[in-house]
Amino acid sequence: SGALEGSNAKRGLWSSRLAFILAATGSAVGLGNIWKFPYITGENGGGAFVLMYLICIAVVGIPIMMAEVMIGRRGGRSPVSSLRLITERDGLRPVWKMMGAVGILAGFLILSFYSVIGGWAVSYVGTAASGQLTGQSADAIGAIFSGLLSDPMTLLLWHSVFMALVMVVVARGVSSGLERAVTILMPALFVLLLIVVGYAMTSGGFSRAAAFLFQPDFSKLTTSGVLVALGHAFFTLSLGMAVMMAYGSYLPKNISIAKTSITVSIIDTGVALLAGMAIFPIVFANGLEPGAGPGLIFQTLPLAFGQMPMGSLFGTLFFVLLIFAAWTSGISLLEPIVEWLEEQKGMNRTVSTIGAGLVCWALGIASILSLNLWADFAPLGFVPMLEGKTIFDLLDFFTANILLPLGGLLVAIFAGWVMSRQAVEKELALSPGAFRLWHGTLRFVTPVAVAAVFVYNLM
Ligand code: PHE
Ligand code: NA
Repeated sequence: SGALEGSNAKRGLWSSRLAFILAATGSAVGLGNIWKFPYITGENGGGAFVLMYLICIAVVGIPIMMAEVMIGRRGGRSPVSSLRLITERDGLRPVWKMMGAVGILAGFLILSFYSVIGGWAVSYVGTAASGQLTGQSADAIGAIFSGLLSDPMTLLLWHSVFMALVMVVVARGVSSGLERAVTILMPALFVLLLIVVGYAMTSGGFSRAAAFLFQPDFSKLTTSGVLVALGHAFFTLSLGMAVMMAYGSYLPKNISIAKTSITVSIIDTGVALLAGMAIFPIVFANGLEPGAGPGLIFQTLPLAFGQMPMGSLFGTLFFVLLIFAAWTSGISLLEPIVEWLEEQKGMNRTVSTIGAGLVCWALGIASILSLNLWADFAPLGFVPMLEGKTIFDLLDFFTANILLPLGGLLVAIFAGWVMSRQAVEKELALSPGAFRLWHGTLRFVTPVAVAAVFVYNLM
């Protein structure tokens, strides 16, 4: 192994730069890009929010991704062991314990609702394949979606199917077959998105959509919108819960951390922007509401598939590929928990997967009920910022906007202030100027930006 002395040679390394990029892209590209990015962009007024999100990716996301990958490779072990090995200072025990706790908690909470949304995608494979979408009006498409949300048992069924898919792969140990599938299925998803964008260009809403997405109107950007943009930079790049740290531990020493991190971030951002360009023309051409919320893609894309030639085929394929993208992300959410149970609690993989998976699955029921029976239940509604938020909304808000940025803040402090500068410099192998830019950003800009957004939102 190329990691620190004493690290476990059995772990093996990714075969190449490509293998790492595939695994990291598999984790990053998912519902965050295709489901969440368009709907939060719609809710937060478009262009100014998109710009803020891009700034957060560049100034906070990429530096932290580099830091996570660097820590992982330096330690060459699971995140908790790597952090311990790198410092070997017992005084810092609470720090890595806290990072571990943030990662485990975030994994549980995110996967619980992620799987429910993954279940929506599973359900839509059947909807598209059976031709139900063909020639439907926006109202009829909307009714199909509300029908799904109002039916807890159906939601539970598809949530269970999605959760089972994730658990099967994690129980068997994340396989290289999945990596190979990413090489084919991710580009396929990209091509299908391009097809929808192509259709959207003819729909009559394209120029309004382009203006909505890319002409910033800062009067529409609120303080909480900035928090959402920051949180989404973490969520979409799978940062703040040590996923990239775990993957980085397999990266061979001779590969550039900066180049690979930037590549993954560009692919992830590209998919999100493409999803936006596929969805908003349909929104405007059909007089739909950009701020419709979490159902946005399920009320727009089916409309496009119902109108375009070979729409049932494209629609079916699209939702299958969306499930695949969500699946690879779901695996990366469950994997750290299972690894932690194995390593720290000495449980075997099958037992830890079943245990952790069942807890996530059960937690998911609260999100399912938030869509119907508990739709008016806002447990923390007395907090002005959380007014009207269901359990599902709260889980999404708390993980993406609080927990992941907090985890990222710890990573930035750890890599920027705690680790020895020489060790970090050697691991990254950047030119002196590029290193200073990264190090300075991580030490000052990133923590200040995260802290400032937090403080502003509390006031
Ligand atoms: N990045 C994934 C997405 O955009 C979600 C995710 C978050 C995965 C955090 C792992 C860790 O869909
Ligand atoms: Na993403």
